[in-house]
Amino acid sequence: MSVTNLLRPNPAEAPAKPAAVAGPVARHVAIIMDGNGRWAAARRLPRVAGHREGARAVRRAIEAAMQSGVGWLTLYAFSSENWRRPAGEILDLTALLRQYLRSELAELKANGIRLRVIGDLQRFDEDIRGDLRAAERETAENHRLNLTIALSYGARDEIVAAARAVAEAAVAGSLDPAGLDERLFARYLATAGMPDPDLVIRTSGEQRLSNFLLWQAAYAELVFLDVLWPDFGPEHFAHALGEYARRERRFGARPA
Ligand code: FPP
Repeated sequence: MSVTNLLRPNPAEAPAKPAAVAGPVARHVAIIMDGNGRWAAARRLPRVAGHREGARAVRRAIEAAMQSGVGWLTLYAFSSENWRRPAGEILDLTALLRQYLRSELAELKANGIRLRVIGDLQRFDEDIRGDLRAAERETAENHRLNLTIALSYGARDEIVAAARAVAEAAVAGSLDPAGLDERLFARYLATAGMPDPDLVIRTSGEQRLSNFLLWQAAYAELVFLDVLWPDFGPEHFAHALGEYARRERRFGARPA
């Protein structure tokens, strides 16, 4: 796992434009968007200013994914643990999400982007849940980019919910426990039908998964970037894809 210092970019290492990636392009990129608060604090701004800039960076990440030929992009926008934040910040984040959905839906549709949401949406207000469901429905036929936003998401919760559903199916007699394998279990996860992420990027220099896609990222390459999420741009996306392309993925097997 490497940490690449992009807070103090060397122009030779961090080109302003995304460089063409030599080697395999990650099919599914998942991003832990971190550092909005620190970005705001460094400018003596309220945290909401960091989240607002973070929403702009979301747009840049989507554009970069489309330009790079990445087919699946999953963004960790709100973890199940984030509900522990002060009520004011949660209000700001939900307001931003509401605003984002209303302002970006037309753009998502125009660009052939399919939106999915994973996580425990019950905790959000009904109007946001309605907007999310409508956005999923209205983009369901799109195929250019599969965009998934993880909201009120926690991988342990997801795995426990899947285990509960499997147990219920077994008790009901519709599933034979002897036939349960990884493939079947994965069909009970929120990500059923999605490919596993090939590359997980985390910004802000922190190096942990924070309960994100723990099952699905079992063999993902991890790239940690020293850039705060609001500053994330196409050059960082290209850098992470380049790092991925250089890695040798063996899935536990011996080198060829
Ligand atoms: C982590 O930074 C970021 C979040 C908890 C929220 C992510 C939200 C956005 C990027 C904007 C809205 C998203 C969408 C999809 C419209 P932090 O607040 O934990 O930063 P810190 O670690 O520096 O305090």
